[in-house]
Amino acid sequence: MTANTVPRTVNGDPAGCEAALPRHVGIIMDGNGRWAASRGLFRSEGHRRGVEAVRRAVDVALKRGVACLTLFSFSSENWSRPVEEVEFLFGLLRLFIRRDLADLHRQGVRVKVIGSRERLPSDILSLIAEAERLTAANSRLTLVVAFNYGSRDEIVRAVRRVAERVQAGTLDPAAIDEAILAADLDTAAFPDLDLVIRTSGEYRLSNFLLWQAAYAELVFLPVLWPDFDAASFNAALDEYAARSRRFGGIAGSGV
Ligand code: IPE
Ligand code: IPE
Ligand code: MG
Repeated sequence: MTANTVPRTVNGDPAGCEAALPRHVGIIMDGNGRWAASRGLFRSEGHRRGVEAVRRAVDVALKRGVACLTLFSFSSENWSRPVEEVEFLFGLLRLFIRRDLADLHRQGVRVKVIGSRERLPSDILSLIAEAERLTAANSRLTLVVAFNYGSRDEIVRAVRRVAERVQAGTLDPAAIDEAILAADLDTAAFPDLDLVIRTSGEYRLSNFLLWQAAYAELVFLPVLWPDFDAASFNAALDEYAARSRRFGGIAGSGV
């Protein structure tokens, strides 16, 4: 396999030589409402129980040595839900940061939040800033919370910033390449996704990290998010380890 024939990912990993453990796992945490409905409970109870599943997911990521875990917790399209539900979800983010931040910090977790900051209340902005500041130097696990996040919105915001540099005369349009655009995405500091897990039996990405998941392995689990546990996460990691990633190339050592 010569350097010329080795397809490379944006972050520079040689294709076909990836470790069996994904570096970056994204989870679309879906099914809270159905979990609650099936028990005759309010949807909010499903969301509340979903936070416990978040803690379990972080535990597994720490135990298994996953470097980066991104959790989709509120999409830019979730604003279309009833205002009480939106407010409840905002309240859960507040609660999660207040209750769990010290513990996350103690465990060496670096917390990052991606998504648009527009429309977020100022107290949430302060909590996010505090979580990111306190944990900035941690390196055991990067926990990325995708909140008020939509991939198309993220790409539009990135393109706008690139266009501003072109307009200012500091960037030649001919110099725009994948790396330039990727550097303006919210995820610029993180590796591409290796594995995307979606719970609840839905088979779609729902505007989650579309650019970053270009070559991610997709694992869809029937489990509803509040029931997601270590066994579910480990099963997805095992499934990932059994996959053959080719990045457009040819499997194996490339003779
Ligand atoms: C996921 O559960 C949580 C968010 C999208 C915020 P849902 O609330 O989407 O639950 P279902 O899909 O209606 O069951
Ligand atoms: C995706 O779930 C968003 C999050 C998990 C935060 P949704 O429940 O909003 O997705 P759709 O509407 O079923 O596609
Ligand atoms: Mg859903």
